[in-house]
Amino acid sequence: MAEVRLVDIVKNYGAFTAVDHVSLTIADGEFVALVGPSGCGKTTSLNLVAGLIEQTAGDIFIGDRRVNGLDPKDRDIAMVFQNYALYPNKTVFKNLAFPLKMRKLPRADIDRKVRAAAKVLDIEHLLERRPRELSGGQQQRVALGRALVRDPRAFLMDEPLSNLDAKLRGQMRAELKRFHQDLHATVIYVTHDQLEAVTMADRMAVMNGGKLQQYDTPARVFSNPVNIFVAGFVGSPAMNLLYGLMEGANRVGRDGWAVELSAENAGRAARATGREVVLGARHSTIALHREHVAGAVPGRVYTVEPTGDVTFVHVRVAQTIVVVSVAPSVMLAIDDPVWLGFDQNKLHLFDGTTGDAL
Ligand SMILES: Nc1ncnc2c1ncn2[C@@H]1O[C@H](COP(=O)(O)OP(=O)(O)O)[C@@H](O)[C@H]1O
Ligand SMILES: [Mg+2]
Repeated sequence: MAEVRLVDIVKNYGAFTAVDHVSLTIADGEFVALVGPSGCGKTTSLNLVAGLIEQTAGDIFIGDRRVNGLDPKDRDIAMVFQNYALYPNKTVFKNLAFPLKMRKLPRADIDRKVRAAAKVLDIEHLLERRPRELSGGQQQRVALGRALVRDPRAFLMDEPLSNLDAKLRGQMRAELKRFHQDLHATVIYVTHDQLEAVTMADRMAVMNGGKLQQYDTPARVFSNPVNIFVAGFVGSPAMNLLYGLMEGANRVGRDGWAVELSAENAGRAARATGREVVLGARHSTIALHREHVAGAVPGRVYTVEPTGDVTFVHVRVAQTIVVVSVAPSVMLAIDDPVWLGFDQNKLHLFDGTTGDAL
């Protein structure tokens, strides 16, 4: 497999910029998820790597080869699509052999490559079956196998799981991760689903409006989002964001709520370019009290969402809803008064003017 490198890539459609100066290196053997909301430029970026469209500016390297202007078929990459598009009347063996037969490889070579791919994917025992006799996971393995026999330098996948129901999607995530680990395959995986990115990828590239926002391990993106956009995009439920104003040197508040900042957080808040400072707190870092506690912010229960393992309580604090997780045994009713305690050591601060983390 190979490293894939995008260097200062721009893709314009007329006056519209779909990909805006993106630079990204996917290491050999790495699984990278390109993630972001619909329309942020993920598919366009992937299609540029595949050579299905040509960039307006910038360079793309696959291995040490600059592939600008090169036909898709000459880039040695494998695209894996949403539907597996297996031939229903051919056996698994013949499905895997087909791309090699098209390339007129000698029979012995075809046989060897098919068996090698089947071994890697653990589908050797399925070679004589037809697609309808396979589970969804096995079908996906065959589709991957068909890409694999061609010795691609990288796998490109665009939302391959988005047609599946939730349960199958969960299984497929595990399968794809296993596939990547067994093969040390270079994978670029496009998804709008942050959960897929977080669960599968070695690193995730978060995009918004054609621009790369953050490129790091899921753990670091989760713990250190670089700006408000990333903070709100990664994690479910999303990070709570309280849009406040500095009130003196160590207090942030607005419309009847206020949070006193620790000395350290006050120091960070002082770096903001204006008075606007946004507090970010994940649901699990907020303590919910039934009585007034010094320093805690008053609110009222808006809704209660039990999920089984954990209950999410939506609390109205002035104009904002703050989501807090509590044990399922905690009984709360709508409109109950509660007080929220923010853990200063887990609090994120953002510059309200620029959106950047402080
Ligand atoms: N051929 C095209 N002509 C004009 N605009 C396009 C074209 N292809 C994509 N776009 C625009 O570029 C932006 C990014 O699209 P895309 O990469 O498909 O987003 P996504 O992140 O959902 O995969 C969108 O606003 C889309 O409308
Ligand atoms: Mg897309």
